[in-house]
Amino acid sequence: MSHVELEAITKSFGAVNVLPPLSLSIDRGEFVVLVGPSGCGKTTTLRILAGLETASSGRVRIDGRDVTDERPGARDISMVFQNYALYPHMSVRQNIGYAMKVHGTPATEIAARVTEAARLLSLDPYLDRKPRNLSGGQRQRVAIGRALVRQPAVFLFDEPLSNLDAKLRVEMRTEIKMLQRRLGTTAVYVTHDQVEAMTMADRVVVMRAGRIEQAAEPITLYERPANRFVANFIGSPAMNFFAARIERGAVRLGAQVLPLPPDEARRIGDRDRVVFGIRPEHMRHSTHEADLTLTPRAIEPLGAHTLLLGEAEGQKITAQVDPRFPAVPDQPATVTLDMTQAHFFDPETEARL
Ligand SMILES: Nc1ncnc2c1ncn2[C@@H]1O[C@H](COP(=O)(O)OP(=O)(O)O)[C@@H](O)[C@H]1O
Ligand SMILES: [Mg+2]
Repeated sequence: MSHVELEAITKSFGAVNVLPPLSLSIDRGEFVVLVGPSGCGKTTTLRILAGLETASSGRVRIDGRDVTDERPGARDISMVFQNYALYPHMSVRQNIGYAMKVHGTPATEIAARVTEAARLLSLDPYLDRKPRNLSGGQRQRVAIGRALVRQPAVFLFDEPLSNLDAKLRVEMRTEIKMLQRRLGTTAVYVTHDQVEAMTMADRVVVMRAGRIEQAAEPITLYERPANRFVANFIGSPAMNFFAARIERGAVRLGAQVLPLPPDEARRIGDRDRVVFGIRPEHMRHSTHEADLTLTPRAIEPLGAHTLLLGEAEGQKITAQVDPRFPAVPDQPATVTLDMTQAHFFDPETEARL
């Protein structure tokens, strides 16, 4: 039985329907990340799960119990927001223990749980400080501590790291993930950042305009994106897409011929119009190679590798090559595509072929 279940949830604000029927089942202990562009309905979905927003129709179940009509406080969940909004006049200890105090939890139990949360979050040295005397990362940990001490059945996170600088974000995402794994608490985490989604999730749910485009393990999204939207959204730099055709077992891109592995050529067959996708990092040596000539317009050395940004056959391309690759701006260069990593999409429906 799934632990959290959204069943055919819809949500309209006035005449605007932001969630068409959306259904999602989450297993006990699973870390699910909802990711998608701004405005696609991630926060709305999470708030409906929390009970902070009422669904227009559909049911919400937690632990098999229908909580659709229950108050947020009765749902056994706790939520961490982007603007962690600590009480400025309270110490870290008081901030973390406040909700329990309001609920009338005995003082000895509050003290024990606050101590435990502070230990898990490495906040022990700061328990008597006020929020203004903490760094951004420490404040965010206090916000997580407040959610933690309630020992909820489900954690909800809404872009909790967006206010932190890039380095701290990377550290905190690892900490949150390790903490969730240690506690085994079911978690639903919202972000617009595909790297955060890929690195933290057991399962990533890619959303667009209130719809689930694909829900899968990170590696599946990367290797077998269900459609062009997911293919474009996951991976950085983004996948290259070309309008191409397939003829006699090879992708034809303008005058260039890129042979496919035989079994893939058989599977796809000849096609007049196809969207051919290839990731920048798959322009290296492989078991099934094809040479593509491109013209770099900008060259970005990143140390571990170099990005060539330019065009091939009048279409934009990004290639990720070895740092020693001899590229010169505006001079044609030949890169080697790994055609075992080619993706194909229908030009009309954009679905994976
Ligand atoms: N209270 C509201 N009233 C009207 N429209 C809203 C309200 N809350 C959200 N929306 C709209 O619903 C859509 C989804 O919003 P949201 O769930 O916040 O997206 P996300 O978190 O993915 O950025 C957006 O188009 C947004 O403008
Ligand atoms: Mg949001």
